Amino acid sequence: MPGRSRADSHTTSAAPQKRARRSGFIWRSLCCLVALLLILLPAADAGDRSIWSPATPTADSINSLFLLVIGITGVIFVLVQGALLYFVYRFRRRDPADTAEPPQLYGSRPIELAWTVAPLLTVFVLFLVVVRTVTEIRAAPPSNDALRVTVIGHQWWWEFRYPELGVTTANELHVPVGDDQQPRPIVLDLESADVIHSFWLPRLAGKTDVIPNHVNTMWFETRTAEVYLGQCAEYCGTQHANMLFRVVAETPADFERWVEEQRRPAAVVASAQAGWTLFRDLACLNCHTIRGTTARGTVGPDLTHLMSRATIASGSVPNDREKLIEWVYDAQSLKPGCEMPGMKITREEATSIADYLMTLK
Ligand code: CUA
Repeated sequence: MPGRSRADSHTTSAAPQKRARRSGFIWRSLCCLVALLLILLPAADAGDRSIWSPATPTADSINSLFLLVIGITGVIFVLVQGALLYFVYRFRRRDPADTAEPPQLYGSRPIELAWTVAPLLTVFVLFLVVVRTVTEIRAAPPSNDALRVTVIGHQWWWEFRYPELGVTTANELHVPVGDDQQPRPIVLDLESADVIHSFWLPRLAGKTDVIPNHVNTMWFETRTAEVYLGQCAEYCGTQHANMLFRVVAETPADFERWVEEQRRPAAVVASAQAGWTLFRDLACLNCHTIRGTTARGTVGPDLTHLMSRATIASGSVPNDREKLIEWVYDAQSLKPGCEMPGMKITREEATSIADYLMTLK
């Protein structure tokens, strides 16, 4: 080969060196493969939040699009990485003393045309299928009989308001299921109280950004009474990962019953008077609303029917007496960084407040 010095430097130490380099290369490749599997495996088995088990036509078309895109890009990945590995191995430097630059080639019209046109076509196909799916799922809901819910993202919990029903709750969105005779689309108006969040319903309707001073809208409809899990899908601060929520899809009759119960104001029962007094005097009412009392704060979740919810701390802690006491005593121990301050109270006082909260059925 012209211009290439091939000094014969095959000494006795070159062979082990070469072997060491090769095994280093194999080890690095194996580590990359294991890391990739570790990232992909949890995504494949996320239980109720799994993107692999869509429960509505909307989620189904998002899933099909995802599989198509992952298929096309997967083939490209294997081709490109395969070629890369082949060339790295086939044209590796065999002689450490050989520092000459290999011959440079310029200007092959067929090759340049091929690698311009092929990616262009691929991107165009991906663009078309994405636009088709987005248009499909953004289309207006199939019925005027929609239930409107205002969703407000807070650091780090979700507020759900039903303006037409006069109901406000947190972290657990109750919706009626529909059927062929009477579809019940749920239209969500998404707002944010602080930073950008993203409302993600993996099995129902994909995700939509929740942006301050801007209302985004999404809708979904479900036919099966079930509890669906959702979560915030845009990093929004320390407790982003614990900004979970549930969608409780229930029969229209169950939903009506739930609405009736949620509309009732709370009453302070005699046995919980001490807890209510502490709640009032410790200024808990500056942040929380309990309808029927003087508590009208809007910073934290509405607690009027706290015990109708299965979880506290935005779906991250079960709602039982023990956890409620812990939460009131030191919320930071359950959800570090959350806006609920430590109230500097004794365990007895926390227990008394929790026992009052337990009466908010
Ligand atoms: Cu809200 Cu992440």
